[in-house]
Amino acid sequence: MASLARRNEFFVVFAEFDAIFKAITNLTRKLNIVASNGQYGLGTYPSTRLRRNRGDGFSRRMVAENRLSADDFIWPVFVIDGNNRREPVASMPGVERLSVDLIPAAAAEARSLGIPAMALFPNTAPALKTPDAKESLNPDNLVCRASKALKDAHPDMGILCDVALDPYNSDGHDGIVRDGVIVNDETIEILCQQAIVQASAGCNIIGPSDMMDGRIGAIRKALDGAGFEHVRIMSYAAKYASAFYGPFRDAVGADSALKGDKKTYQMDPANSNEALREVAMDIAEGADMVMVKPGMPYLDIVRRVKDTFSVPTFAYQVSGEYTMLKAAANNGWLDNDKVVLESLMAFKRAGADGILTYLAIEAAKLIQD
Ligand code: PBG
Repeated sequence: MASLARRNEFFVVFAEFDAIFKAITNLTRKLNIVASNGQYGLGTYPSTRLRRNRGDGFSRRMVAENRLSADDFIWPVFVIDGNNRREPVASMPGVERLSVDLIPAAAAEARSLGIPAMALFPNTAPALKTPDAKESLNPDNLVCRASKALKDAHPDMGILCDVALDPYNSDGHDGIVRDGVIVNDETIEILCQQAIVQASAGCNIIGPSDMMDGRIGAIRKALDGAGFEHVRIMSYAAKYASAFYGPFRDAVGADSALKGDKKTYQMDPANSNEALREVAMDIAEGADMVMVKPGMPYLDIVRRVKDTFSVPTFAYQVSGEYTMLKAAANNGWLDNDKVVLESLMAFKRAGADGILTYLAIEAAKLIQD
């Protein structure tokens, strides 16, 4: 009996030892894997070869993490006065300013390609620009006429309009200028009226691009007060003082008007944490969607915004980005179609839900092919 008890004891001790031994082996194995694969622990060469899935088109498609679709695009279009007029924008090869009567046909093409929304930007005649930017409140101004024409022809096409005073301001600034200062609160009062004027003209998404503090909350309240509680706000939340806007200012005719720069209201390109505060405040004030701008040089901001807030996040591939790409492609230095799609995919990978891009039409066609 005594020897039997001892034998059982031996087995118990042995089993314990065995379990401990196995645990240690497992742990060492795990640590090994962790060491060779960073945080993932998903396998090691040669049993794991990441090139296998890349080996054929079918499996590359199966494992693709992001996909581009026309749904991702918002197409910005420049509007000019007159009839049956198209005017090339010299600094943006391939982009034209269109007169209001040509907007419905442009929208028809966008619509047939599956693009959900267009952004309208007016090239306002210099004679209409004043220090109080009062043309911004004219219900019959260029952007309002374009909006109405588009909405009448294509009620299901989304329309985004900038709220900011720069197209109408003889100083070229997004806000009212007093003694060299872009005044915040006084500007907001005008922006609120501008938003209502544009909503009345059929604009579905108000895009405050002015970077005044507190404007989202004020505009939301103003829209609601005027019965436009269904009109969305896509806030240009993290908008940087960027030299990449150069060709846009040429396209809307604001470059000659602008006195100085926009550094006292647009963000410093050196900053990233500050972008999160801007976005947080705009969401708290009622923004339905937020935007980061410019795009490709600021994809780190897109990723941080998306990861931090998980709200609909958009990015603007701005005029200068378009111009760089086209300049190189037109010289034969880059393959146009490939860089067009690669540049847009980069936005998706960074977490953007959508992209404002002058490439919308050609990219949508490329995706279809
Ligand atoms: C106006 C506005 C700008 C852009 C969009 N809205 C220019 C600016 O802030 O000076 C830039 C778009 C682009 O470069 O494509 N507030």
